[in-house]
Amino acid sequence: MAESVTITDNRSGESIEIPIEEGGVAAADWKKLLGNVWFYDPGYTQTAATRSAITEIDGDAGILRYRGYPIEQLAERSTYLEVAYLLIYGELPNTEQYAEWKHEITYHTFIHENLRKRFMDGFHYDAHPMGMLVSATAGLSTFYPEAKDIFNEDVRNKQIVRLIAKMPTLAACAYRFSMGMPFVYPDNSLEFAANFLSMMWKVAEPRYDGSPKLAHALDVMFILHADHELNCGTATMRMAGSSHPDPYSCTAAATAALYGPRHGGANEQVIRMLSSIGDIGNVEAFVADVKSGKGRLQGFGHRVYKNFDPRSKIIKQVADEVFEVTGKNPLLDIALKLEEVALADDYFVSRKLYPNVDFYSGLIYQAMGFPLEMFTVLFAIPRVCGWLAHWKELLEQDQKIARPRQLYIGADRRDYLDMDAR
Ligand code: CMC
Repeated sequence: MAESVTITDNRSGESIEIPIEEGGVAAADWKKLLGNVWFYDPGYTQTAATRSAITEIDGDAGILRYRGYPIEQLAERSTYLEVAYLLIYGELPNTEQYAEWKHEITYHTFIHENLRKRFMDGFHYDAHPMGMLVSATAGLSTFYPEAKDIFNEDVRNKQIVRLIAKMPTLAACAYRFSMGMPFVYPDNSLEFAANFLSMMWKVAEPRYDGSPKLAHALDVMFILHADHELNCGTATMRMAGSSHPDPYSCTAAATAALYGPRHGGANEQVIRMLSSIGDIGNVEAFVADVKSGKGRLQGFGHRVYKNFDPRSKIIKQVADEVFEVTGKNPLLDIALKLEEVALADDYFVSRKLYPNVDFYSGLIYQAMGFPLEMFTVLFAIPRVCGWLAHWKELLEQDQKIARPRQLYIGADRRDYLDMDAR
């Protein structure tokens, strides 16, 4: 074998040679000799849970590609809807396919009135929009019971369109509700990002006339967030999907996973951190606190990137374009100083901690007028297409139900005691 490892079971003296394929070994090969010896790998740092042809990341080189296309080219030349098609169907659409795709998405942006009036309006007045989004995506499954027919390609495609189309509507709906503002219906004459901004900000004018530069910036942000291979949210989508529920329920699970501050919730935490630092003069002391173990530098570090996150470089350019329209976010100077101090510090250098996608995205969203609570929602809107690409791929692979092993560390057998004997 060209590349292989030899494993010897020292208990029996038996050996087996197994191939290293694509940088790893198959558990099925390992099992031939060591069927009762498992890998202890919490956090899956050393375990590939699937094969995927969707997104490629080289964390050391700082490379991110969707279906082979570099993220830099897509951010510069493509649109979010085109990227969504690419991720889901594997190829860039031709003119006809793109026109049909756009039409389909545009004409599925409305949500059922009962979902809005009875369900969304039932939340407490200060409900977090991510909580509302998690619930609303799960709620959608009850409006489309046919979605359970997941091996019917037409049904599957219809739910893919619905989910991509309705995410901005649900997101804006959650925001408007939290502000006590009336719901704004989608405007089919607007492009995807511009339509979302209209649903967010329209007040009494007949047609929302926002800045095309901001709509374009948001579209680029959507492209950058569309997929990122097997992160926590996507792994959750695949894990939930492996038991074969409908895609709305899977998406609700993935959205919940995205919510946490270690994942998509980090963009909200970055702004809270920058605000609490308050002044450039406090940056050094803040970094010293982080090094001494008092919290983390939000928006820094990544499980996969041990170099600059390529998305953070593009986001910095987007930030310049946005600030030209909105004026500079006053927290930008603190962020730049923080980056400068951290990147010159051995603690961060030796651990290969660089700014990630969330470090600058919050500054953009804040400058555009989005409240902090909406930041992770803005991550979820485009990520749904990545989740769906993985969900579709999973079903086509007919992968087994996800069911990791556990290492039991609890009590040995013991007998039940009556209450008065405890
Ligand atoms: N600030 C300070 N120290 C850090 C940070 C940070 N942001 N991130 C990692 N470290 C340290 C950590 O303390 C550990 O040090 P030591 O080896 O001395 O114990 C070392 O670096 C390795 O950290 P880890 O927690 O083992 O790394 P991980 O791969 O499990 O975690 C991470 C990755 C993204 C959860 C983590 O870097 C983090 O918490 N970052 C801050 C939150 C954040 O920005 N999340 C967004 C990630 S990108 C977008 C997304 O996924 O949604």
